[in-house]
Amino acid sequence: MVDLKNKIRALRSSFDEGLAQAGDKDSLKELRNTYLSRKKGRITLLLKELKNVSPTERPEVGKQVNEFKNYVAQKLEEYSKTLEEPRHIKFDMDLTLPGKRRYRGAPHPILLYKKRIEQIFLLMGFSIEDGPEIETDYYNFEALNFPPHHPARDDWDTLYLSDDLLLRTHTSPVQIRVMEKKKPPIRMINPGKVYRRETPDPTHIPMFYQVEGLVVDLGITFAHLKGTLECFLKALYNEKIKIRFRPSYFPFTEPSAEVDIGCTVCRGEDRQCRVCGGSGWIEILGAGMVDPQVLKNVNIDPEKYSGFAFGMGIDRTAMFSFRIPDLRNFYENDLRFIRQFS
Ligand code: DAH
Repeated sequence: MVDLKNKIRALRSSFDEGLAQAGDKDSLKELRNTYLSRKKGRITLLLKELKNVSPTERPEVGKQVNEFKNYVAQKLEEYSKTLEEPRHIKFDMDLTLPGKRRYRGAPHPILLYKKRIEQIFLLMGFSIEDGPEIETDYYNFEALNFPPHHPARDDWDTLYLSDDLLLRTHTSPVQIRVMEKKKPPIRMINPGKVYRRETPDPTHIPMFYQVEGLVVDLGITFAHLKGTLECFLKALYNEKIKIRFRPSYFPFTEPSAEVDIGCTVCRGEDRQCRVCGGSGWIEILGAGMVDPQVLKNVNIDPEKYSGFAFGMGIDRTAMFSFRIPDLRNFYENDLRFIRQFS
């Protein structure tokens, strides 16, 4: 039995040697035959010798022979796999070239800014509403108290799709849509795209974003409007921002106001400032108390309820916040520009 064990040991080392020298498929095949061939394979012969081992020792020696057989089979298999792969990888590439960069996108600054605005109003308990960009004349104008042919319509350079359909010129039609569906108390904002027939220049583009706000409830006054907008603008810019209300006119609010903030670029110190024109103030939104006629148009009793509304250009405000000199930068899709804001 000692004999057979020694034999296994010797065969294993000669197999290992043979394997180390086998450089191709043919020599591997030869090695397999030498050890595993059914008739004269060295392991086959070993198995045959088992019968000479005493029955008490046979199981253990048999186990060793089997283990050796599995070892040989496994090694041959492993090695034949490595032979299939190229043994020497040729580097016919230039390792000094810069690697390929992962494509990196970025959220658009207008969308980031829109989110910031939404966040502030959500904290104040406002809901966020949505409305169509293709509107009817009724929602964009008539329900907002612009009678047909009223000259106030000229302030909104409208892109008509047909006599009755148009691309909404402001987000105000969503006020009507919301008030038709919900009854007071209403506290909502609605950010979205609007369209006007404008020739692009640093401060005008034919498509831009607005955010509309509307509050309707019992006992709403102009003081609520002022307080809400001051709170919002301080959160958006900073505590020290200067704010002023100027009387204005919109068909859907009475009284109406326009709201200016102190110029964020020159802070009122540059008579030549291109952003504020030297006045020290920039106009950022329109607002007012919802006209009683508008409430009547949606079957809300103006004797009982009152409300305020406002509308602000998001692109414009973002432009002043980020001190961007030209609105068109937002829409040129230059990633070097866009990535600066994320
Ligand atoms: N819709 C107006 C515009 O596009 C902005 C505006 C003014 C909205 C006053 C309002 C408002 O809700 O009350 O210029």
